[in-house]
Amino acid sequence: MSDSPRQTIVKGGLVVTARGLERADVLIVDGVVAEIGSFESGHDDADVLPAEGCYVLPGGVDFHTHMDSVFRGSIRTADDFATGTAAAVAGGTTTIIDFCRAAPGETLAEALDQWRRRVVEQRPWADYGAHMVLVQPDDDTLSQLSSLPDLGVTSIKMYLAYPGRMMSDDRALLRAMQSAAASDLLVLVHAENGHAIQVLVEDALSAGHTEPAWHAKSRPTVTEAEAVSRSAVLAQLAGARLYVVHVSSAAALSEIERARATGTDITAETCSHYLVFDDSMVDGVPKEVASRFVCSPPTRDLDDQNALWEALGHGTLDVLSSDHCPFALQGEKIVEGDFTHIMNGLPGVEQRLAIAYQGVVNGQYSMERMVEFVSTTPARLAGIHPKKGELAVGSDADLVILDPHATTVLSAATHHSAADYLPYEGMEVAGRVTRVLLRGTTVYVDGSVLPENRQGTYLHRSASHQPTGETR
Ligand code: URP
Ligand code: ZN
Ligand code: ZN
Repeated sequence: MSDSPRQTIVKGGLVVTARGLERADVLIVDGVVAEIGSFESGHDDADVLPAEGCYVLPGGVDFHTHMDSVFRGSIRTADDFATGTAAAVAGGTTTIIDFCRAAPGETLAEALDQWRRRVVEQRPWADYGAHMVLVQPDDDTLSQLSSLPDLGVTSIKMYLAYPGRMMSDDRALLRAMQSAAASDLLVLVHAENGHAIQVLVEDALSAGHTEPAWHAKSRPTVTEAEAVSRSAVLAQLAGARLYVVHVSSAAALSEIERARATGTDITAETCSHYLVFDDSMVDGVPKEVASRFVCSPPTRDLDDQNALWEALGHGTLDVLSSDHCPFALQGEKIVEGDFTHIMNGLPGVEQRLAIAYQGVVNGQYSMERMVEFVSTTPARLAGIHPKKGELAVGSDADLVILDPHATTVLSAATHHSAADYLPYEGMEVAGRVTRVLLRGTTVYVDGSVLPENRQGTYLHRSASHQPTGETR
């Protein structure tokens, strides 16, 4: 057996680095980027992967996915870490940060240990890390937060929605923020006012409104904006770093800008589906169609959608995530009874990069800016940069080759997720991911994931770093 280093050259692509776009070759040695330059000779043993005419990007980092997750007590998302990360790499995402939640009586360390064992058994294709979900943490649980960084977890997540299931009250949120601040943990918040929504749902049902469109109508943008504003105030009180997940509206964006202007340490994401779908997907269409688009917060109007594209471009939004959370079409999305029985969430981990790239094609932002919000900034926030999220000497050779001259038709017939439908069904988009490398090894090429190269590993995250003035 030879012990000479494994060498690969990705040749002649338009490489996105921190310096910008440059036509270059990328030399990979033993899974790590060794050099970015021009190599005409001297590496005769290297495998050569042609990338002429294509972009070469750092692998995508998806900061918000729900693989193998149970909601409403017993309903599991359609993808586990096997199918979900096959979908991720097929779409150019080589790292996901998912969620771990302790069962009653379990410590956070025990929960993470169980979670890690389960993910290993499922043999993921992408590298992965975890956010820790808290609901109503008691003093004992709060005291355990200081143990998380040693376990490689540097963020917690709380829901201000879903009363009686996942929702945290303000006391729990503020106490958790104080403990998080003491241990330098980032605090993720699902910002919707759960109790206000509960009242509006009760009113809708009393008036006989049962159709899926009333899921959205009972969650108006003000319920999102209020929760953003409230969590920003509490984060400032606690001195915590706040990250708002799945921002969907212009009203919420205004609250983020306001909080930032008053010195709150706040970052935020939107998700691919809010860039593509609007409220016409659910309003005035048959239940069988509308149910496919039900998520929380709901898809909004076209003004909100335009505001999100702009905010990604100019930096009010820091990250584009997928919030990949697929459920089976029959019985989970299309249900008997009223809209409250529809499972909330959409697939999208495989389509995130494709949708982000449409903004480059449409002139919304540059390729370099896109790489920041799909890869570099989530890697910084996850505490895994510069190993992930950047093509630089010494970083993991997680690479995406994107052919701008090809197109992709998004469809459940060809996707790698186990979801039995795709809300993006039939959309034709510019560009195609042709090859994806994880730590120097091809995991996806020309439509197929390669089972022999399945090697996703747990990422021991460091304290996260907020994007600075340069990156925002
Ligand atoms: O509708 C959504 N977003 N489902 C996933 C769970 C969550 O709220 O993030
Ligand atoms: Zn959420
Ligand atoms: Zn989510």
